[in-house]
Parts: sequence; C-alpha cells; structure tokens
Amino acid sequence: MSLSRPLNPQPALPPFFSLIALESIDSTNEELHRRARAGAPEGTLVWAREQTRGRGRRGRDWRSPPGNLYLSLLLRPQVPPAEAAQIGFVAAVALAEAFESLLPAAPRLSCKWPNDLLIDGAKVSGILPEAEAAGGVVEAVVLGMGVNVASFPAELPYRATSLAAAGAEAGVETVLEAVAPRLQSWYRRWREEGFAPVRCRWLDFATGLGEPVEVRLEREVLRGRFAGLDASGALDLELADGGHRLITAGDVFHPAG
Ligand code: BTN
Repeated sequence: MSLSRPLNPQPALPPFFSLIALESIDSTNEELHRRARAGAPEGTLVWAREQTRGRGRRGRDWRSPPGNLYLSLLLRPQVPPAEAAQIGFVAAVALAEAFESLLPAAPRLSCKWPNDLLIDGAKVSGILPEAEAAGGVVEAVVLGMGVNVASFPAELPYRATSLAAAGAEAGVETVLEAVAPRLQSWYRRWREEGFAPVRCRWLDFATGLGEPVEVRLEREVLRGRFAGLDASGALDLELADGGHRLITAGDVFHPAG
C-alpha cells in the first residue's frame, strides 16, 4: 500500500456517499477492497489524486498521473454475480450523462461494450467493476472508474483522449461532482426497476450498433454484426451464418470507427 494523506477541501457529494479523499494510493480499487473487507458501508467512495499501481481490465496498467479522476465506489447489491455485472453499465450511463453536461455540444460521446466511454471514437474513460461474492450472492462491488480529465497516455494500442482535449473546462473535483449524483440516481433506478432502463439508456449512447464488429476472446476471434445487448448485458453478436453468440467477456473492435 502507498502512503496516503487526506485531501482538503473536499468536493460536495450527495449524502449517499462517504468520501475518502486521498493524495496518492496504489489503486483506489485495492484500497476499497481493503475497506470493504473491514466492513465499510455501501456508498463509500475512494478518490485519489494519483495512483501508483492503477489497473485496468484484464490486468492491464491504468496510468494514473495527477490531473485525472480515479475513484472507486462500494456497492452492496446482494444479487447473484450475473446480475451484479450490470453495474458496469450503470456506471457507463452515469459517466456518459456527466460528460455530456461538461462537454461543448459538438463532440460525439459514446459507450463501447462493455464499459468504455469514447469521444469521437477515442477512449476517455474506463470502468473496472470487481465483485466479491459469497454463497452465490455478491456482498460487495468495487466499482472503479478512471476518467482522463486533463491528459491521456500516449502510445496506447487504441486511440485515447481527455475531457480537456474535447473542450471541457473542468477540473477533477467538478467532474466528480457531476458524476456522483448520476451514479446514485442510476444505481437507485437499477435497484428499483432492474436492468431494462439502464440497458435502454446505454443503447442511446452505444457505438457501432448494427455494424460489423470483431470480438477477441481468449482463444478465438469472432467477426459479425453488433446486434445489440441482451436483457442481461451480454453483447449479441450476429454471425455470418445468421446465428447469434452472446458474449459476456472479451475485447471488442469496431472496424468502422
Ligand atoms: C479499463 O481498462 O478500461 C478500466 C480502467 C479502470 C481504471 C480505474 S482508475 C480507478 C480504479 N482504480 C484502479 O486501479 N482502476 C480503476
């Protein structure tokens, strides 16, 4: 664990959140797992100015210099693991709506399956939901979110951008204050109404819907058409022979865009 000290002053968040604001930490996800295991309540939100070992999906690095937003939110949904996976989409729609409120009208904001946010096709934000389950029920979801606010890494295997590069004049505190109430409200909606409204909103922002897509799985590469999201959040891939494959994990590439 890295040394950390509290930050001052703190952003104003709705009472649902218990904010833990840190100067530096290894990973906000790691820190929140530690706190979750020690009994932290739902709504605990760890925010750090920088991470020394930020991580992305599939064990990749998430470079985390000061100026960008790194946060993890603890949720305790008490649902089966397959349902808890929908929480990544809850975060995606909350982030998309927050970015929309901060960006000038022109940039094309979209969601890429499963949990990326793009501006004009370049990645601006990634989501890393990590569930802790016991006895078939998810006791804790550590919902990690990274947002390129001021900068984005060079030399990535995909195009990246930042909110600043897309014309938003907002610091990390402002972005956090825009994201938090939307996260709370979409999470509440998911709890009360299920996945359908989240799915519908995510599809409003979806990139490449109906278009050719390549899905890289651990042992094979599939090509087909991105036909939609099923009722659980799996990607519906229509194959050349007209058959469908439901994809629950993998890397998706949209050749058109
Ligand atoms: C991705 O690969 O797209 C997901 C990136 C998630 C990065 C965030 S930053 C805050 C939280 N802490 C981490 O170590 N990772 C997530």
